[in-house]
Amino acid sequence: MRTTTVRVPAKINLSLGVGPLRGDGYHPLATVYQAVDLCDEVRATEVEDDSVTVEVHFGGDGLREQAPVPTDDNNLAVKAALALRDAFDVKAGVALSIRKVIPVMGGMAGGSADAAAALVACDALWGTGATRLQLEEIAAGLGSDVPFLLHGGTALGGGRGEEVSPVLVRGRFHWVFAIADRGLSTAAVYAGYDVRHADDPPPMPEVPPALLTALAAGDAAGVGAALSNDLQPVALALRPELQDVFAVAEQAGALGALVSGSGPTVMVLAEDADHSAELARRLLAEGVCVDAVQATGPHPGAHLI
Ligand code: C5P
Repeated sequence: MRTTTVRVPAKINLSLGVGPLRGDGYHPLATVYQAVDLCDEVRATEVEDDSVTVEVHFGGDGLREQAPVPTDDNNLAVKAALALRDAFDVKAGVALSIRKVIPVMGGMAGGSADAAAALVACDALWGTGATRLQLEEIAAGLGSDVPFLLHGGTALGGGRGEEVSPVLVRGRFHWVFAIADRGLSTAAVYAGYDVRHADDPPPMPEVPPALLTALAAGDAAGVGAALSNDLQPVALALRPELQDVFAVAEQAGALGALVSGSGPTVMVLAEDADHSAELARRLLAEGVCVDAVQATGPHPGAHLI
């Protein structure tokens, strides 16, 4: 049986500006995404009938299952395969197998990453001949972060996050991810944002110019100082214990720390690889997270291996 395998990174938001709720239930975003080398792998294997199935295995060092991952048609990788099949009138089925390393419901777009990976894997398996633009369009229909996970690197995200354009960036950034014991629902965090802004609608969001300047210069300290996330106050209200991660990060000389996306993962920026190892050790020793995972960015988007 033929197989294809795709590796796909997690994403973080170096800035996440969130505007007022739109009529379609989404929020306008102005974000800077970065892909980091904390990667899931999705394998697509030919099957003899037209079934589309998925199995999920948890990989990685000590990373555990923070929330259940659906293994039916609610799995975003299955949705991706079905959407690609519909768009190109493919008759075949596929057996998908996901090796999960990206935290589940952690604010790092793990489900969206698997969808992007399934698109690339099934496209290659079925030989659909889809153009990059066609894959991006299908990706946008699957979720706001999915187009970025095809793209990778460091990029601006507009619209509801699905409009991606590259950002000039120099150097590598050394991150430590403080992993929480259980996930947060993205929709619940956005709903909390709306409650907070019920009497005071937020303005249309913008990317902080200081962040773009620091990225272009490869200035890690400048990036650390410019990190921002409009959803952070909501995530901290839902999980006050995350404040302890920030306190330890600061004591240990982190260049910056921020809730990743809708949380609860906290991303901590280190000066270099040695400092990253030291930060991870301190976060674990202080018992403020269940895992502390080191990863660097930027990293390529979903790609065949
Ligand atoms: O696009 P995606 O399906 O990943 O979004 C998950 C949920 O996050 C949406 O149903 C919505 O509640 C919220 N969301 C939002 N505004 C965005 C992106 C996501 O309100 N720009």
